[in-house]
Amino acid sequence: MPDTSRAHALELDARDPLAGLRKRFRLPAGVIYLDGNSLGALPDDVPGALDDVVRQQWGVGLIRSWNDADWWNAPTRVGAAIAPVIGAAPDQVVCGDSTSVQLFNTMIAALRMRPGRNVILTDPATFPTDAYLADSVARLCNAEVRRVPAAEAAAVLAADGADIALAAYNHVDYRTGELRDLAGITAAAHAAGALVLWDVCHTAGAVPIDADAHDLDFVVGCSYKYLSGGPGAPAFLYVARRLQQDFDPALTGWHGHAEPFAMESGYRPADGISRGRIGSPPLLNMLALEAALGVFAETDMAAVRAKSLALTDLFIACADELGLEVATPREHALRGSQVAVRHDAAHPIMAALIDRGVIGDVRPPDILRFGFNALYVSYADVVDAAAVLGDIVATGAHLDPKYAVRSTVT
Ligand SMILES: Cc1ncc(COP(=O)(O)O)c(C=O)c1O
Repeated sequence: MPDTSRAHALELDARDPLAGLRKRFRLPAGVIYLDGNSLGALPDDVPGALDDVVRQQWGVGLIRSWNDADWWNAPTRVGAAIAPVIGAAPDQVVCGDSTSVQLFNTMIAALRMRPGRNVILTDPATFPTDAYLADSVARLCNAEVRRVPAAEAAAVLAADGADIALAAYNHVDYRTGELRDLAGITAAAHAAGALVLWDVCHTAGAVPIDADAHDLDFVVGCSYKYLSGGPGAPAFLYVARRLQQDFDPALTGWHGHAEPFAMESGYRPADGISRGRIGSPPLLNMLALEAALGVFAETDMAAVRAKSLALTDLFIACADELGLEVATPREHALRGSQVAVRHDAAHPIMAALIDRGVIGDVRPPDILRFGFNALYVSYADVVDAAAVLGDIVATGAHLDPKYAVRSTVT
């Protein structure tokens, strides 16, 4: 039986090699924050950096900062800073726009890059924006969306992949926290002549992705979850170097032009990853993200993953002791960085938890989600949060009518 005592959790914290990174984040007193899988905590470096961007670079530098503060190159510079976190060489990642925009742009590019094939293979349980965009792209491009669960995708690609242009999957199931077989689906897609697009919103900064080692084609992820870039922080796009000259995105904005300031009347794509740029980037968000990424230079993804698995192991052991149903796989190879607990009263239980300072979130119909960012969550947080959860369920505190109200976000 795993030791779920607080004394043991404190021992684990005392020998945690990442414990020192917690002070790089501003966590409010009295809060155990287990929702970094939705919105990461505020990094300590961000307020000062943003203050400089606003007062100095914008306020004093004005338009000159596009050159003097190198605003122009921020999308590729910040992309290069994200690259090591996802296991990519730097010239393959560009930062900008939203996950949804990047997914749309890349799905169309993939169809254009595989003429003669007209199927997008995706998961029926994919995140809604991915599903909605695939359907819209299919309508625009006269293509078809084929919905196949991730567990069956490799077999379908092998048996029936001749018309599949793109396999577009989430690296982690946003409800259950199940980690998908990125290597297997990618290899099967390539063997079938298809491209792959991985949505890594729930793994970037939490789970090694090894984009280059796995020979991925396209990767899109957000930066406001485990990368802690802040609300609305821009997404990123990885395009493997070997595909960049053929990358033919739908959104041919002027920032992706070979010579943006030539103001030519026709579009000529830039070389390399810069053709993934679209229009003026959200610089305040992007430069906040750049400051947030500094912490990743002080650790590596193997250490982050090892702690994340230990934290989620401990939380699963606590949930087992409480007799709760854990929806997240127990095998490390199948687990992202969150633990999902199934309960008919998920909403009121989460409302009661938040009232007591333990912040997670819920997904319909019955999932309580607890995200564990190894950079700032401690082992003591895990057992303390589980104790509060256990107390609520045992006493029925969540049955108080004040917890019956549904919130829109959590
Ligand atoms: C897997 C996944 N894809 C996409 C998104 C959201 O896309 P966007 O950043 O455009 O809102 C989320 C948001 O939680 C997500 O979990």
